[in-house]
Amino acid sequence: MARRAARTILPRESSLDPALSLHRLPAHLQARLRPLLHPPAPASRVLEPGRVHLGDARALLPRVAPNSVSLGFWSPPYFVGKDYEAYLSYEGWERLLETVVGLHFPLIRPGGFLVVNIADILCFKDPSMPRISASAVDRRRSSVTREDILGEMARHPGTDRHQLARRLGCSEQTVDRRLNGNNIRGGKYDVQTRVKIVGGLIERWGLSAGFYPYDRRVWVKDPAWENSRWTSLSYKALDEFEYLYFLWKPGITSVRRSRLAPEEWREWGARGVWTIPSVRSNDDHESKFPVELALRVIRLLTDPGDVVLDCFLGSGTTAVAAVRAGRRFLGIELRKESVALAKRRIAAARD
Ligand SMILES: C[S@@+](CC[C@H](N)C(=O)[O-])C[C@H]1O[C@@H](n2cnc3c(N)ncnc32)[C@H](O)[C@@H]1O
Repeated sequence: MARRAARTILPRESSLDPALSLHRLPAHLQARLRPLLHPPAPASRVLEPGRVHLGDARALLPRVAPNSVSLGFWSPPYFVGKDYEAYLSYEGWERLLETVVGLHFPLIRPGGFLVVNIADILCFKDPSMPRISASAVDRRRSSVTREDILGEMARHPGTDRHQLARRLGCSEQTVDRRLNGNNIRGGKYDVQTRVKIVGGLIERWGLSAGFYPYDRRVWVKDPAWENSRWTSLSYKALDEFEYLYFLWKPGITSVRRSRLAPEEWREWGARGVWTIPSVRSNDDHESKFPVELALRVIRLLTDPGDVVLDCFLGSGTTAVAAVRAGRRFLGIELRKESVALAKRRIAAARD
């Protein structure tokens, strides 16, 4: 019955590319996806795989052939003050990522994936946030307590900070600290820093593009001790992991156990946490991710010969991993010097 209904809705069923297997989806999904699965061909010359293309992802992605990419995998600008993202305001950064996620939908083949690697929090100055007051108990040099001061104030109403300090034999700063707490991040009167969770944005942008959140994994990298100046005075964790968000385009996804050896499935294929050391020498690009990270995503989600796209290619890591794994790559990168670096690394990988 359901089949007959689907046939009535889709009179051109037989003319569809059988690889898309659209007819195997529920009727309501077929109706919704049909226009998305058959987008118009790009107006200008199609970008060829096997090359690194210089330019803005927003301008070049519409030139990737529809339904031609099995996996989009990238790590975008994180909006953390790197040189290559200096051109972006926060709103501009949001618009860039939302646009780029949206532009992936037509070019990913049905059943394929877009995987986004990103640090899950951003730190923002937020004037509306109450000042964080923390009492650094272990660092106290004076034994005078908050209760001592409150007791003194109750016994002598109207006493000011200077008089309280004299009576209790401590500094005015101690009186102030015990009454108001220490500000643990920046100066006491600085605007506070708030944490923003990025995962929710990726989910929202993915869904509105037509993708469905499918999975997420955690990449445990090296802990960033050098950036931890303030963590000794707070309960905040070091920066030592990032997320991989898997967005799925509806369609038939081939699940092949043979893509990995049984011990690889046990060690990482089936595991949610991947521990992979960070790249040690970031002297030629500010933020490379490890080849091993890209290799795992590519080997898990694609077959030999498939096209893997990275539209924030940077130093070319995704393309290097694709070459090593026998997949085709398509790279897009905004900066000339990074394109040149990526080309050198890809040539070395091909050799
Ligand atoms: C986090 S890095 C990617 C690093 C890369 N995964 C690697 O291992 O080298 C982000 C890259 O996006 C590039 N980029 C920034 N804005 C871009 C845009 N609008 N279009 C294309 N690339 C852009 C930057 O120049 C930078 O190389």
